[in-house]
Amino acid sequence: MMRVIRVNDYQEISEKAFEEIKKTVTEKPDAVLGLATGSSPVGLYQLMIKDHQENGTSYREVRTFNLDEYVGLPKDHPESYYSFMHRNLFDGLDIKEENIHIPSSEGDLQEKCEQYNDALEETVIDVQILGIGSNGHIGFNEPGTSFDSVTHIVDLKPSTIRDNARFFDDDISKVPTKAITMGISNVMAAKKIILLANGENKANAIQACVMGPVTENVPASILQEHPDVIMIVDRTAASSLYKEKR
Ligand code: GLP
Repeated sequence: MMRVIRVNDYQEISEKAFEEIKKTVTEKPDAVLGLATGSSPVGLYQLMIKDHQENGTSYREVRTFNLDEYVGLPKDHPESYYSFMHRNLFDGLDIKEENIHIPSSEGDLQEKCEQYNDALEETVIDVQILGIGSNGHIGFNEPGTSFDSVTHIVDLKPSTIRDNARFFDDDISKVPTKAITMGISNVMAAKKIILLANGENKANAIQACVMGPVTENVPASILQEHPDVIMIVDRTAASSLYKEKR
């Protein structure tokens, strides 16, 4: 079942998502969290750090699995998702490094996909945090990806490269063209999914995800078939809901 929670702004998205995460780790200190990069979850991560520092909520027994990683950036590049996650979340928590899982894109890529997938198959993610691409992608599962996909290597779509250029001095030529990502079936295996979206440029993707047909052309539309999804969207991202597609 998909529940859409419409809030006013980014701060409220972050607060609502934080309530869910706090509830999860309080009830289950060894919870498994599926985590996302991008700007959508940064406010949530800041609230998690603040709460850890002020209230002592512990992540010592928590395990995390990230959705994806660029191919072609060394781990210590500031825009690798490894660096992003440490800078924006892990360095501010008491999580153990060995409990953090981020797909590695160094070495034999096929082998790295299989290893990550094996680890995912041995685990049940309690809560998966998701953003959404302006073309409806989740993780780096671009339009056209099979709903049965598992961890795999993808060629990023030109629109995704353009969207992500803002993290690379607005220079398209600096954006990696490939990534390793959890597949859609890995994402769907999570017990609960929380998707965060803000801003006008997400409005069409949110409309297609919530109201459109379930189609591989809109990867996020498969979430309509998941038993427990919360979509937390601000006014602008929700602006095309319940209206004709613009
Ligand atoms: C990237 C990530 C996705 C993320 C999307 C949206 O492509 N691989 O996991 O959801 O961007 O990013 P943002 O939250 O910055 O809009």
